[in-house]
Amino acid sequence: MENAWTIRKALLWGMKQLEDPENRSPRMDVETLLALALSQDRTFLYAHPEAIVPDEELQRYKTWIDLRRAHYPVQYIRGTQEFYGRDFIVPPGILIPRPETELLVETCLDLCKEYKPETGPIQILEIGTGSGCIAITLSAETPELQIKATDISPLAAKTAARNARLILEDLSSIDFLVSDLATCFSDNLRLDFIVSNPPYVARSDAESVDPSVRMHEPETAVFSGETGYEFYQRIFAEMRGLLKPEGFLVLEIGAGQASPLEELGGKGGWKLAASHSDLAGITRCLVFSPIPVRKAEFPR
Ligand SMILES: C[S@@+](CC[C@H](N)C(=O)[O-])C[C@H]1O[C@@H](n2cnc3c(N)ncnc32)[C@H](O)[C@@H]1O
Repeated sequence: MENAWTIRKALLWGMKQLEDPENRSPRMDVETLLALALSQDRTFLYAHPEAIVPDEELQRYKTWIDLRRAHYPVQYIRGTQEFYGRDFIVPPGILIPRPETELLVETCLDLCKEYKPETGPIQILEIGTGSGCIAITLSAETPELQIKATDISPLAAKTAARNARLILEDLSSIDFLVSDLATCFSDNLRLDFIVSNPPYVARSDAESVDPSVRMHEPETAVFSGETGYEFYQRIFAEMRGLLKPEGFLVLEIGAGQASPLEELGGKGGWKLAASHSDLAGITRCLVFSPIPVRKAEFPR
């Protein structure tokens, strides 16, 4: 039994393998993967440090540690990520939901409490739904909303629909579509809110992106173009006609993008209505209203 691997030994070995300045959470990763291999939760590891890890589980754990050493995200190994208190399925090819996106959801939920449409339920469109975490959370928290969500990736639309089936009791008020932004809709759509966490990393910043994101998360979900503002420019240009005059455009943004986006929005006919910062004081969510077009501006 001297050579047997105890939980303690397996954890120490894992920590050694993941010693890497670019990995910000080696302890959490090691514990999560060993607990997953043993089909236990992490508290089991603390309670039984001398328990022997059976061979099959040990091999599985070692394979996962090797993957993690190559910066493969733990969430793709586990297959899920928690968002706003619910578990979402995240296969490789789908952006892993981030805690900062909860601020966008909070902002929308607050707006929904205040906003009263003239008729019928609040109509929301989410652009770039990925796992569906934003649209599904909004629907779970406020079931009376009517939500449509698009993604250019068929895998994303399928995964979001699957998450909706797992999480929501009623699927009648939520729809997932494959589309380039909102091009699948006719111009007579009149929405109350348009919401998006679009790709916003500039290709020129790729080297500063965490290697697990750069190497393993979908490029089309992370990178926007050379400047990082390409999607916002398209959203500003293409969404005005789909929103009611009293409606709101709610956007997640990258660190440092608030002022340039306020200016870009202004040029595109949008007025900044509110901005929200994360706990570190970084502005991560902007709310825009469409600036009314004056009659004189219409061509005669
Ligand atoms: C930053 S991810 C956001 C995913 C999810 N909403 C979230 O917050 O976790 C951006 C999403 O936009 C999608 N996307 C990229 N280009 C698109 C386009 N032209 N039209 C629609 N969706 C697009 C990507 O596939 C990806 O799922």
